[in-house]
Amino acid sequence: MAKVKTKWVCQNCGYETAGYLGKCPECGSWGSLVEETSLPETNSSNAVSASLFSNQKTTKLDEIEIGTEIRTTTRISEFDRVLGGGLVQGSLILLAGDPGIGKSTLTLQTSSNLSEQNKNVLYVTAEESLSQVKLRAQRLGINPKSLYVYAQTNIDFIRKEIDELNPEFVIIDSIQAIYTANITSSAGSVSQIRECCNFLMQLAKSKNITIIVIGHVTKEGNIAGPKVLEHMVDTVIYFEGDRYKSYRLLRAVKNRFGNTSEVGIFDMGEKGLREVTNPSELFLAEQNTLQTPGSVIIATNEGTRPLLLELQALVGTTPYPTPRRVANGVDIGRVLQILAVLEKRVGLNLSKQDVYVNVIGGINVSEPAADLGIALAIATCARDVVVAENTVIIGEVGLSGEIRAVNNIEKRISEAQKLGFKKVIVPDLCGNLNIKGIEIIKVKRLIDAITACVSAK
Ligand SMILES: Nc1ncnc2c1ncn2[C@@H]1O[C@H](COP(=O)(O)OP(=O)(O)OP(=O)(O)O)[C@@H](O)[C@H]1O
Ligand SMILES: [Mg+2]
Ligand SMILES: [Zn+2]
Repeated sequence: MAKVKTKWVCQNCGYETAGYLGKCPECGSWGSLVEETSLPETNSSNAVSASLFSNQKTTKLDEIEIGTEIRTTTRISEFDRVLGGGLVQGSLILLAGDPGIGKSTLTLQTSSNLSEQNKNVLYVTAEESLSQVKLRAQRLGINPKSLYVYAQTNIDFIRKEIDELNPEFVIIDSIQAIYTANITSSAGSVSQIRECCNFLMQLAKSKNITIIVIGHVTKEGNIAGPKVLEHMVDTVIYFEGDRYKSYRLLRAVKNRFGNTSEVGIFDMGEKGLREVTNPSELFLAEQNTLQTPGSVIIATNEGTRPLLLELQALVGTTPYPTPRRVANGVDIGRVLQILAVLEKRVGLNLSKQDVYVNVIGGINVSEPAADLGIALAIATCARDVVVAENTVIIGEVGLSGEIRAVNNIEKRISEAQKLGFKKVIVPDLCGNLNIKGIEIIKVKRLIDAITACVSAK
């Protein structure tokens, strides 16, 4: 009889060792190693793994023939855009997101759209019962004819069903809920997730079907699942949003078949996810029209689309020995750097002041083009002046207090103009801009920008 092997696996990062350790040498977490047993290899899942590349020969690069990738539209253009132009045949896609964000909704809507194009779709629900799926479909107002729903958690049964039905698209909701009988640990453990994902990857490639796998991320990020999965799959898409707001962002963080800069924006309602074609309008809907010091409009780039957002700063005398710096939606390191530049190059000393920076709408802005907006929000609040009405601010702030150029400047300005703004403050380094109908103020240094944007209160 074959020997039963045991190993200890870190549930945080997937590190494996033969014996118990209190602390994981890979990720440093304590008590995260759990003993797992693999049963003697059976001929189920491993048979596929072995066969994928087994009949390949070494080939010269210039002799390799490429087939064109076949893509299918999801009929949700925001989703298509993030995927790089539709679902690629034979690819494995991981859709990860917080609990309740709308992963099942998006995949059910997608499945329905696919089956309306006469595609054979199998939706495997491993978390919810068939009637729960049906109820959701009813609420979303979809009733596709050839969408197969299968409630199952055992991957061998899922495999059998796929062999029988021969679907072109398979949805697994979710990877944390399915298991293989080859491993004794419970569903959702790192070993189970890794084994199941590996199995699905081989299945997608060998049968040339597109598989979308749903994965949960917990608040603490302590289900390592999606992180461990990221390098195994072709495409990783994150579905994110503010729990208290209705909009949702779809973002590719890895894509073997497209770029990762695109973002899809949705509005979540009772009837499901609705595409948002003009996101700036959505985010500026609650714009603060009260003309408060410390409130500015910035133009960031999400993928290839510009997005206008409101950014606020609050500066006040601190009751603490060390002042507080709090940033929501922008990187705290960036804020600290801008504070240093404001102090050294503009002479604005905030060492006795608390500084809070917040992007309205719960959006995360990571690009440096927001620097100038952050700097002006802080400076105007500190000096108790307001930024001139209907002004949009764009620019990166360098350590010498210079304003540096940003990409896609014309697109950003056009977006501001489209939404009725009258003025933009942009880096002088952006060169000649051929846009009419909006006042363009070019600035070289941070101090010039402050003078340019301020009108006395
Ligand atoms: N009747 C309803 N009206 C409006 N929105 C609803 C309604 N029912 C559900 N929702 C929205 O749908 C969300 C749940 O969607 P869905 O089940 O697709 O999320 P999920 O990411 O699959 O969640 P889970 O992690 O539980 O699998 C809720 O958080 C809520 O925003
Ligand atoms: Mg779900
Ligand atoms: Zn670890």
